[in-house]
Amino acid sequence: MTEAIRAEKLVKTFGKITALAGVSLEVAWGETLGILGDNGAGKSTLIKILTGYHQPDSGQVFVDGKPVELTSVDEARAFGIECVYQDLALVNGLSIYHNMFLNRELLRRGPFRLLDHREMRRRKARILLLDEPLAAMGAREARLIIGLIERLRARGDIAIVMIAHNYAQTLEICDRVVLMQHGEITFESAAAATSAEELLEIVRREYRAVRTG
Ligand SMILES: Nc1ncnc2c1ncn2[C@@H]1O[C@H](COP(=O)(O)OP(=O)(O)O)[C@@H](O)[C@H]1O
Ligand SMILES: [Mg+2]
Repeated sequence: MTEAIRAEKLVKTFGKITALAGVSLEVAWGETLGILGDNGAGKSTLIKILTGYHQPDSGQVFVDGKPVELTSVDEARAFGIECVYQDLALVNGLSIYHNMFLNRELLRRGPFRLLDHREMRRRKARILLLDEPLAAMGAREARLIIGLIERLRARGDIAIVMIAHNYAQTLEICDRVVLMQHGEITFESAAAATSAEELLEIVRREYRAVRTG
C-alpha cells in the first residue's frame, strides 16, 4: 500500500495548552483510518493541520510522499485534500454530504457520464477528512452517511480519515484505528485485530491512573 498522506512528529500548542505533542500518522490510498479518543485529545487539531486550517509549530506533512506546506485550506484542496469539519457538520447536517458525495455520484450516473467522468474524477477529493461526521445525526441519517463513506471506501483509491465517537461503529467502517490521548497516539491497530472492549479498556485504564494519581 502506498502512502497518501503522512504526518511526522506534529506539535501544536495553543498558549499553554499542548494540543499535539508529536503525532505521526500515515494513511494509504484506499485506506480508511479511524481516529478515536476523548474530548480534548487533539483529534480535531490534527485534522485541521492536515487540511491547512492550522499550521503546526513543528513537524512535517507529506502528500504522495513529498513534503508539503499546507498554508491554507485552499492550498490543501489543491493537493486533493477535502475536509468536513465538526462545527460545519453540526450546522449544515446532511446538506454538506449531499454536496460532497451525493451530487457527484448522481452526476456520474447521469446522461453525461462519459463526458463528465474524467473531469469528475480529477476534481473529486482524493484525501477525505471527516471530523465526527455522525455527530448530531439521527439513526437514519447516520446510516446514510455510513453508506456514503463505505461506497467511497469501496472505490479503493481514496484515503479517508474519520474522527468518530462510537468505537464499534468506527471499527466496522474503518480498516485501521488509532487512539489519541492527551495529544499523542497511544494505540494503533487494524480494525479487525482489536475490539471496542479493548479500546475502552485502554481509556478506562487512563481514568483509573488519573484518579489514583
Ligand atoms: N483554537 C484553539 N485555541 C485554544 N485552544 C484550542 C484551540 N483548538 C483546540 N484547543 C485545545 O486543544 C486541545 C485539543 O483540542 P481538540 O483538537 O479540539 O480535541 P478533540 O477534537 O480531540 O476534542 C483542547 O485542550 C482544546 O481546548
Ligand atoms: Mg474535536
